[in-house]
Amino acid sequence: MHFSDAIQQLLDLRVFLISFLICLCVYEFYDWWNVKMSSLMNLPPGPWGLPGVGCIPYLFLASYRTGLPLSEPHLLLTHLTESYGKVYSMYVGSKLLVFLNSYSSIRDAFQNRFISDRPYSNIVEKLGGKGEGINLSSGSPWIEQRRFTLRAFSRFGLGKRRFEDQVLMEAGVLVSECFKYGGKAFNPDILFPKATSNVLCSVIFGKRFDYDEPKFERLLHISKRQIEIIGTGVVALYVPLVKYFQGDITQELVAITTEQREELNKFITEHKENFDPDNLDSYLDVYLSEIEKSKENGTESEVNEDNLICTIREIFGAGTESSASTMGWLMLHMMEYPEVQTRVHQELDAVVGRNRMPRMSDKPDLVYTHATILEVQRIQSIGPLGFPHLSSQKTSIGDFEIPAGTIVVPNVWAIDHDPDVWPDPWRFDPNRFISEDGGIFREEEVIPFSLGRRVCLGENLAKMELFLFFSHLLHQFTIKKVDKMTKLDFKGVVGSTYSPRPFEMIADKRE
Ligand code: HEM
Repeated sequence: MHFSDAIQQLLDLRVFLISFLICLCVYEFYDWWNVKMSSLMNLPPGPWGLPGVGCIPYLFLASYRTGLPLSEPHLLLTHLTESYGKVYSMYVGSKLLVFLNSYSSIRDAFQNRFISDRPYSNIVEKLGGKGEGINLSSGSPWIEQRRFTLRAFSRFGLGKRRFEDQVLMEAGVLVSECFKYGGKAFNPDILFPKATSNVLCSVIFGKRFDYDEPKFERLLHISKRQIEIIGTGVVALYVPLVKYFQGDITQELVAITTEQREELNKFITEHKENFDPDNLDSYLDVYLSEIEKSKENGTESEVNEDNLICTIREIFGAGTESSASTMGWLMLHMMEYPEVQTRVHQELDAVVGRNRMPRMSDKPDLVYTHATILEVQRIQSIGPLGFPHLSSQKTSIGDFEIPAGTIVVPNVWAIDHDPDVWPDPWRFDPNRFISEDGGIFREEEVIPFSLGRRVCLGENLAKMELFLFFSHLLHQFTIKKVDKMTKLDFKGVVGSTYSPRPFEMIADKRE
């Protein structure tokens, strides 16, 4: 070996040792700082992390040790309650996350106005365009958009009898589409998103689309893809580094979102041509009339065309797949538990009879049918980790302090499967929602729509849709497995909702 090579190697070794010592010091300092800060701040308990990556290595290790896959994070996060309790915290990447695993902690946190923002994400930002919308916005733009949308919904009768007729009509179309299969096997995922999306088209545009209209099919495909991409991109919310490795999916997201925005623009332009300010019949009508008013008054407002497109896109995104997935889970449970299905059939026959279809006014008497929907929502946890909130300033949850900028995650799965709350939580049993006097009880403890200040804006609409679609299908059909021996898959796909894997069913006409 040459003398110069030996010097070089020595230098390399020195560089390595010095770097190692610096890392050690930073780590020690970071650890000391964390301990110092949390003892000063009384953060919720939780595992310690490493500088920069936080608890990511710990999560990998915990997943390996327990066999609970990181692809279904709600399972591992529920398991961690055994070590850290119902409210715990950890650094994931550089962000502090607090996980809430009990109903009372979610209720307290989500009623707190300082835990009502949304965390920033580079991937969801690509969806926004120039507008801020409702679902992903924070602060006063969020308050203004949310208030306006709620007012607009009630102005044209959402949740009222008039709107029920539109949902009933869509339920009728869904039933006739199922008849078209003539008792042959089909994948219901072809139908449910069309039905749920068409209800939203009635809300937003005041019109519905034929199921086979190519433009409608394309918009649905885009909406579904957006949800899948956001699902895979969610990790970048917590680990900013990940965004540098997401090239392809962000490009695809930008491309399909631009296409979606252009299509929505075309609908809006067409709609404007027939706009009648004296006859406000849809969300779009109310929004356009508000924009006109702001222009006339010369006032600056969040109600503008950029936000219009953004909120329309969000309402489709939030309301199509979530309701369609719930319908999918309902069908799977009817196939797996024919005895439950028989009881729903018997109840429908006794209360509604065979000569008419169910209506919302039948709901108080269709107790078992209602309880079956609640039990499916509980056992499948359609949004297992809900939607994250962000603290806008230092605040508290129970006795714990929460610093500004903390991401607060509701672990809905943990509540839905907590044996202290729901005895034998893995048993599918609608009766757990029926009280001794024969009514529904404990409904408020099932929180697929979340609760508090950011509670789902479409909760009432979604409840109406689920009840009418489910009761209409069961009034007309017996839902059966394609083959009695088929083992159904109750493990879902984790995206922004927990949806069933593709499956086939038979809708057998009832006499
Ligand atoms: C079964 C169906 C549905 C489920 C399970 C569901 C669930 C949720 C959840 C968990 C949130 C987040 C709440 C939070 O941040 O704490 C949410 C927000 C939202 N949902 Fe739904 N949703 C459903 C249907 C709908 C429908 C039909 C609409 C259409 C009107 C809709 C519109 C929205 C909007 C606009 C938000 C954002 C609210 C905000 O950030 O202030 N959802 N939904």
